[in-house]
Amino acid sequence: MSADRIQPIRIEAPAKINLRLVVLGREASGYHSLETLFCAISLSDTVEIEPSDAGIELVVTGAVDTGPVERNLAWRAADAFYRAIGAEPAITIRLKKQIPAAAGLGGGSSDAAATLRALDAAHGNPLSRERLATLGAALGSDVPFFLGRSTFALAWGRGERQLELPAPSERSVLIAHPNVAMPTGETFERLREIREESGTVSPEPWAVDPAAFTDWSSIAAIARNDFDPIASERIPRYPEILETLRTAGASIALLSGSGSAIFGIFPADADLPGVSVPLAQGGLSVYRATTLRSWPEPLPID
Ligand code: C5P
Repeated sequence: MSADRIQPIRIEAPAKINLRLVVLGREASGYHSLETLFCAISLSDTVEIEPSDAGIELVVTGAVDTGPVERNLAWRAADAFYRAIGAEPAITIRLKKQIPAAAGLGGGSSDAAATLRALDAAHGNPLSRERLATLGAALGSDVPFFLGRSTFALAWGRGERQLELPAPSERSVLIAHPNVAMPTGETFERLREIREESGTVSPEPWAVDPAAFTDWSSIAAIARNDFDPIASERIPRYPEILETLRTAGASIALLSGSGSAIFGIFPADADLPGVSVPLAQGGLSVYRATTLRSWPEPLPID
């Protein structure tokens, strides 16, 4: 069956940062179980979907290299969506990239989730939220967060188990990307080596205290990223970058995900240009954003 011809639709695909990322033990699958606190931010890609004659065409623009089309998560999300509804696709996806790739900001996963949200809306919501979440989880560990209701959530396992939380008040966010690759597999492997060499046992899962998420000062008290030692090895001047962010007023300065983007959380009225300039002069790509308190909705394109 071929699907109904869709109306053109557009959706923003926001990035995420991890305000806490604890790497627990390695499971039989070879993957490590995580405990993480996700927060969506306004730095976004844009996904536009329009009708075509047949198939799924992907057109990527922007300065970010996203690799081969059929490995692109937006393309794979569309493919999974049409298989799930049992219809032949006839769409062009226009993906405007702004989120740096392989930076720990969830860009590819967010593109996948945005594509699923947009296609489901364009076809009159044929799939339940649970079905979309199942499709999303098969595409990547961060996708279920981007398909959730809240822009602020704790997640466990490989990201599929989530506790959605009320988003705290808006904050300014500065992202500094050092343009150094920290491939996920190698980063996990190096952490395992470091823990083995030092005889460190994997952390125990945390008993969640809801008071830890009520305001930014409580969040700062639990903020951490277990990949910090690997970032110190791989990113030139990593401690100085964190210090620059803290000195400029960041209440939290951390690596995001498995790297290599670094973020600072600032008051909503902070003077971000004042800190952006020295970081950019140091050769980092700098992005300004805010934390998000609601997800962007898919909108028809006129
Ligand atoms: O998620 P992705 O397949 O990109 O991860 C690449 C590699 O990183 C995996 O093959 C695995 O070795 C490691 N990894 C892990 N635990 C996770 C996620 C990734 O050990 N939760």
